[in-house]
Amino acid sequence: MSLCDLMQNLHGKVVLITGGTTGIGLAAAKAFVASGAKVVVAARNAEQGAAAESQLRALGDAVFHACDVIDPLSVAALVSFTIEHFGQLDAAVNSAACDTRPIPTHEMSFEDASKTVSTDVLGVFNCMKYQIEAMLRLGGGTIVNVSSVNGLSGVPTAAIYSAAKHAVIGLTRSTAKEYIGRGIRINAVCPGATETPRRERRTAHLSEDQLLEHQAQLAQAIPIGRLAQAEEIANAILWLSSAASSYVVGHSLVVDGGLQA
Ligand SMILES: NC(=O)c1ccc[n+]([C@@H]2O[C@H](COP(=O)([O-])OP(=O)(O)OC[C@H]3O[C@@H](n4cnc5c(N)ncnc54)[C@H](O)[C@@H]3O)[C@@H](O)[C@H]2O)c1
Repeated sequence: MSLCDLMQNLHGKVVLITGGTTGIGLAAAKAFVASGAKVVVAARNAEQGAAAESQLRALGDAVFHACDVIDPLSVAALVSFTIEHFGQLDAAVNSAACDTRPIPTHEMSFEDASKTVSTDVLGVFNCMKYQIEAMLRLGGGTIVNVSSVNGLSGVPTAAIYSAAKHAVIGLTRSTAKEYIGRGIRINAVCPGATETPRRERRTAHLSEDQLLEHQAQLAQAIPIGRLAQAEEIANAILWLSSAASSYVVGHSLVVDGGLQA
């Protein structure tokens, strides 16, 4: 079978994407829908959810469902909704993460640290728990967790975020080994700096000149000379979710323009 045919096996598949209403999650949702998949996008904000749903419906079959990944009951309800609505769960992408800002570690509050760990680590755990439970019942599937290049090395002034993204890789590797024998293939993607609303919010306080300087400095530090577009991360997520990557298990796929090289 050709690579093209293997990628096309996403046609008709049911995909659940948390954090799917903006940024990398939304780009992945658009790519899945364009490949003929049926997609549920989930996040907390209903207004952003409605906007994402209407963009996705212009391309194919998709629906928004509100969910807070911190809340196990909310995640359980999301997985049940997906199965009731589309009759199956073939693939999941866990992209939700809370905003963080650079801060010296000794100045970070316990509350902010807890929020990051709750959303970025326990949120992924909650999602995987209910996704795996459903996939075991329904005949297997794939899961892609969105980590970060910051999950692969230390990052000054982002220690908790970096720790959380390291933990996502730990969750991915452990569950990948635990469930591959039962038909569930689990991997992670590690994006480098990517142009998304999250990044825009992080630099919102900068003047236009400061922003240009910041972007130029950032681009200079990346061998490819620019930030990623969300679609470039989405392509990696689609590949990891498709039969084209059938022998890839517990992997953390770096998509960073050469930053880690
Ligand atoms: N943008 C980057 O440069 C970059 C780099 C590396 C990794 N990442 C990772 O990519 C993922 C997506 O980030 P993005 O840049 O697209 O950001 P984004 O802010 O556009 O997307 C994050 C999404 O998560 C949702 N979300 C946040 N908290 C939630 C909660 N408790 N429950 C449900 N949904 C929640 C938000 O509503 C949003 O839809 C994150 O895991 C992030 O850590 C981003």
